Amino acid sequence: MSRSNLAVRTQVAVVATLATVLACGAARGTESAADGLGLLLTRNYLPPDFDQEVFDELWTTWPEPLRGRAAAAPVEERRRMAMERYGLDPHPDDPSRSLQYVRGADGAWTMSCLACHQGQVAGRVVPGLPNSNYALETLTEEVRLVKVKQRKAFGHMDVGSLLLPLGTTNGTTNAVIFGVALMRHRDAGLNIVQRPPRFDLVHHDMDAPAWWHYRKRTGLYADGFAPKGHRMLMQFLLVKENGPEKFAEWEDEFRRIESWIESLEPARWPWAIDTALAGRGRGVFENHCASCHGTYGPDGNYPERMVELDVIGTDRVRFDSLTQKERGELNESWFGHRGRDAARLRNQEPPTGYVAPPLDGVWATAPYFHNGSVPTLWHVLHPDERPAAWQRTHSGYDQARVGLEIVAAEAAPAKLPSAERRTWFDTSKPGKSAAGHDFPEALSADEKAAVLEYLKTL
Ligand code: HEC
Ligand code: HEC
Repeated sequence: MSRSNLAVRTQVAVVATLATVLACGAARGTESAADGLGLLLTRNYLPPDFDQEVFDELWTTWPEPLRGRAAAAPVEERRRMAMERYGLDPHPDDPSRSLQYVRGADGAWTMSCLACHQGQVAGRVVPGLPNSNYALETLTEEVRLVKVKQRKAFGHMDVGSLLLPLGTTNGTTNAVIFGVALMRHRDAGLNIVQRPPRFDLVHHDMDAPAWWHYRKRTGLYADGFAPKGHRMLMQFLLVKENGPEKFAEWEDEFRRIESWIESLEPARWPWAIDTALAGRGRGVFENHCASCHGTYGPDGNYPERMVELDVIGTDRVRFDSLTQKERGELNESWFGHRGRDAARLRNQEPPTGYVAPPLDGVWATAPYFHNGSVPTLWHVLHPDERPAAWQRTHSGYDQARVGLEIVAAEAAPAKLPSAERRTWFDTSKPGKSAAGHDFPEALSADEKAAVLEYLKTL
């Protein structure tokens, strides 16, 4: 299929899905839920990142032959190319805007939660699916170059990215450390306090989880320490421009955003399933996996089980990057209602590892593990065959191995320009190990094939 054909198909699918979501929120009478999505698509909670003029000149910073192709293309096609390069999806009502950034009447683009939390799978935008294509660092770098040319002031991201890495592999970000760095300049009531910046932060990239798991969890994040609640969702707004009064003012909007997140349903596998094989897989899953990941279907039960680091064996940098003191401070702050929300946590003890996530819609949420190090479910099930380095295609889907379509290599190519280096996942880098979770080794080849088929049905 030609590129433009695929683009048209993608766009049609975006329109169809988003329209359906809005309609179905309304039909279920969950007005506040549909309204939550509306807020995410239209409200600026942060200062703007760049303007339309900057966005429309980004192509001038690209390497050849991409730049030449953009130079010869009409403006609409150039915008589409820019969205593809940075992992953005066109807005169904107006493809010159993106779903991930709010564009104001003045043409200013502002990052929203959807930058990391709204993506596509196999070219289809599914509400609540994380953005596994987001190239935040490359976008910020190229925006800076254009701003210098256009003599425009740097924004908070342009400056922030000079101080800390934003994301060294596309689709993953250093989001946890953004939060730690920003929280350093607040007291428990979110008043701004002057403190010297920290230089001992452990930077590492994370793959955002699907939002449709929210309703099953009592504790958020890979280590499950943060009690869920609308206030906890507001940490991303901690830039210095937002004082404590802004948090109070926006609290009610975040109740509506939370109710939208709470209403999300997992994506359904859109292709054929071998039901007999999946049925056998269900039995294997219930014997080997359900004690941690729970059971599915109408009587499903999610245990939210904490698994110690030396048992799970996946990359430990995320766990080590937060101290128990920092976890406590977040929960004791305004975000956790000064410690009151913590009473709702199913796991009351401090984290000792990672929480086994729910697996609803897992077929759609590649790459896998908290750091996004494993490209397909087949690779989760075959620990010895996980690639040391891999590069995904933009929206190719591997139906056989269930996950991203990739090129695998023994090592990422050396000496690539930075934008291209970020298209590779290199498991030899700190925080990016694909090791661990060896539980599937107890299964025979037939059992693995059956479990893989069953996972498609969740
Ligand atoms: C720069 C990317 C980024 C942005 C922007 C962002 N998030 Fe996240 N979000 C993440 C990552 C990464 C995680 C996983 C963190 C972890 O597990 O430690 C996460 C986790 C979450 C979770 C927990 C889900 C779970 O199952 O544990 C929720 C809920 C969430 N984010 C909501 C939001 C909301 C609401 C906003 C906007 C106000 C937002 N996020 C903005 C990257 C982002
Ligand atoms: C002892 C508990 C435990 C058992 C048993 C277990 N898992 Fe897991 N699983 C986890 C934990 C914890 C994680 C999160 C690891 C991380 O992100 O670093 C995980 C992650 C996963 C993921 C990636 C999810 C995502 O969204 O990234 C998949 C898929 C998965 N497990 C499938 C299975 C299957 C299939 C089995 C049975 C063969 C199984 N697990 C057995 C604890 C377990």
